[in-house]
Amino acid sequence: MTEIRSSATQYGLVAVSIHWIMAILLCAAIYFGFAAAGTKAEADKVALLQLHATAGICVLLLSLTRVTWWLFFDKKPESVPDSSKGRRAIAGTVHFLLIALPLLGAAIGTTIAIQSGAIPTLFFGASIPLPDFWESALRLPHGIVARVILVLVIIHIAGFLLGLVLKPKAQFKRIWFR
Ligand code: HEM
Repeated sequence: MTEIRSSATQYGLVAVSIHWIMAILLCAAIYFGFAAAGTKAEADKVALLQLHATAGICVLLLSLTRVTWWLFFDKKPESVPDSSKGRRAIAGTVHFLLIALPLLGAAIGTTIAIQSGAIPTLFFGASIPLPDFWESALRLPHGIVARVILVLVIIHIAGFLLGLVLKPKAQFKRIWFR
C-alpha cells in the first residue's frame, strides 16, 4: 500500500491523491470557464459559472493544501533516474508553474466574482442579473492565465508520454496508488 508520505522513489498517498483530484478539477474549471464565457443565455451562463466557480474555488483550496503539505509535511522524490539535465529543468519549471498558476488563476477569478458583485447570484440564489465581467481589469489576465495553464497541462502530458516511451512504466508508478 502507498505510504502517506513520499519516499525517494515514489510519491506518497496524499501527494498522489492531490495530483489526480487537481487534474480533474483543473480540467473542469477550464472547460466550464470557456463554456460560461461563450454562453449568452442568462440561466445557462449562471449554471455554467456556478460549476466553474465551484471547481475553481476547490482548486484554490487544494492548491493551498498542496503548498502547505510540501512545505511542512513531505519531501519530493528524487528525479526520474537517467533523465537528462535539460528534461529535469523543463519538468521542474512546468511543475512549479502548474502549482503557482492555478493558485493565481483561482485567486484572480475569486476577486473578479467578488468585485463584480456576482457572488449573490452565483451562490445564494439572488435574481440579480450577472454583470459584464469584461468591465473588470482582471478579466483579461484571468483568461490569459487560464490559457497558459492549458498549454502547461499539454506540455506536462506530452512530457509524461515521452517518458513512457523512453522508460515504460517507471514514471507512472511514481504518481499512482499501490
Ligand atoms: C484555476 C482555477 C480557474 C481556471 C483554470 C479558470 C479558467 C477560466 C476560463 C478558461 C475562463 C474563460 C476565459 C475566456 O474565455 O477568456 C474563465 C472565466 C471566468 N472565470 Fe475562471 N477559472 C478559475 C477559477 C475561477 C474562480 C475561482 C472564479 C470565481 C469564484 C472564476 C470566475 C470566472 C469568471 C467570472 C469568468 C468570466 C466568465 C465570462 O466572461 O462570462 N474563475 N475562467
